[in-house]
Amino acid sequence: MAAAVKSLGYVRVETTDLEQWRHFGADLCGFQVAEDTEEHLALRMDNKAFRWWVNKGEQEKLTALGFEVATKEDLAELTERVREAGYEVTVHTREMARSRSLTEFVSFTDPDGVVDIHLFLGMDDAMTPFASPNGTVFLTGDGGLGHAFQLVGDPDAYRRLYVEILGFKVSDWIDMAMGPTPEAPQIELNFLHCNPRHHTFAYGQIPNGPKLVGHIMVETTDIDAVGRAYDKVVKDKAAPLVLTFGKHSNDKMLSFYMNSPSGFQVEFGTGGVLIDDEKWTPARYNAPQYWGHVRQSGEPPKDPVDRAQAAG
Ligand SMILES: [Fe+2]
Repeated sequence: MAAAVKSLGYVRVETTDLEQWRHFGADLCGFQVAEDTEEHLALRMDNKAFRWWVNKGEQEKLTALGFEVATKEDLAELTERVREAGYEVTVHTREMARSRSLTEFVSFTDPDGVVDIHLFLGMDDAMTPFASPNGTVFLTGDGGLGHAFQLVGDPDAYRRLYVEILGFKVSDWIDMAMGPTPEAPQIELNFLHCNPRHHTFAYGQIPNGPKLVGHIMVETTDIDAVGRAYDKVVKDKAAPLVLTFGKHSNDKMLSFYMNSPSGFQVEFGTGGVLIDDEKWTPARYNAPQYWGHVRQSGEPPKDPVDRAQAAG
């Protein structure tokens, strides 16, 4: 079988304010602080050394998506395929990889130049059991840390990269109206999986719209963990609420959306469906949610970005 990515293993973030990220990550989301220096913050969600690596820097930005591969051979094959497709791939030294708790990794910039993509082999297990500061249990394992949703400039380039090169499979599509009326133009959102998690990467294009990572989703095992985080956001204003509690049409996730300190959103959820490739066939949906997920800016969505950024 051709090599393929196994999961989203980690994300890297740049921030001007590590302290804010420590509050957001640990106190609100329930991530365990594994490393806390003046330069960076490493946050755990499970037995792995880290799932979020937050660097002190000049800007607020999600800088990299780290995708895990299963074998050395797979990493070599995927690297070759990415190179053949015209991407400039950097193979990092063993020392560099080990300094990041990885065995090997390569990196390249995605088609829009919006985020770096890392392909890695072998992330370290932590040497201590995972202990969330607020008792949250995250659904990770084979499904990785969660999923990413990106607004892109050229959907074909992303389909070629993620499906044809990295080996993702289509989960389904959502057609989403870009305005409140039925006549509003529609955009297509594409959902892709690489393990049983319903989607690990999703993308869509708003004509002449922005190119950015809209959100990262993390999933808990327990609706009460989502409820407790939701309370902190709604009652204590622990982070700006973007979309109220709701249920997605395609992956059935019960979730809400909040702004992270670095501009992109975090979807905090539970109950996402799992995909069995033997039985799964893609469907098409006319809206991202069954109920809820109401925009909370105090005014109607100003433009399609508000709607699409948090979809999926
Ligand atoms: Fe999502």
